[in-house]
Amino acid sequence: MTVYEAIQQRKSIRDFEDRQVEPEKVQRILEAGNLAPTARCSNANRMIVVDTPELKAKVQEACMGQELIGKAPMVLVVCSDSVREMGCKQRASTVDCSIALSFMMLAATQEGLGTCWIGGFTQEPLKAALNIPDEYDVVALTPLGYPAEEGRPRNRKPLEEVVYKNNWNPYF
Ligand SMILES: Cc1cc2nc3c(=O)[nH]c(=O)nc-3n(C[C@H](O)[C@H](O)[C@H](O)COP(=O)(O)O)c2cc1C
Repeated sequence: MTVYEAIQQRKSIRDFEDRQVEPEKVQRILEAGNLAPTARCSNANRMIVVDTPELKAKVQEACMGQELIGKAPMVLVVCSDSVREMGCKQRASTVDCSIALSFMMLAATQEGLGTCWIGGFTQEPLKAALNIPDEYDVVALTPLGYPAEEGRPRNRKPLEEVVYKNNWNPYF
């Protein structure tokens, strides 16, 4: 599968087969996340693999009860230290973790697995449930498992509406 094919195939998956994910697949996905760039090569990203029913239930609770969490055999949580702001005023943790999770979602697609970016969660209960140190913030998480649905139809604006050229002129 090429990168473009993975990008085309990836969709948010919210229902999963009752089937475990092979450890070697998880390993490759984690390696993809760890190969993502980080600001100043801080290597500050931390990835948590959650695969016990008890902890998944707590994660689901911190995610406003979203049922897709409980349906997946495991959850990947991405966090980073929350103190570094870049010159552009963006938090490095948000950017670093977002790149890592995106890499992992594409790697998961290549492995035939489904993911769904989850931003709907409350920070403190999630950190408490997973024993995450104070200085780290969770940026996002995803359930991970074999898809039991195709995902929703694509809903994107055409490139003509979203791409500009030079000083905000139409590109197309
Ligand atoms: C920052 C962010 C937060 C999201 N949070 C949630 C969420 O909490 N729950 C959920 O079911 N989907 C969530 N999604 C998934 C989006 O709804 C989904 O990516 C979007 O509808 C496009 O669909 P697609 O991923 O199938 O292309 C989130 C996506 C992003 C990028």
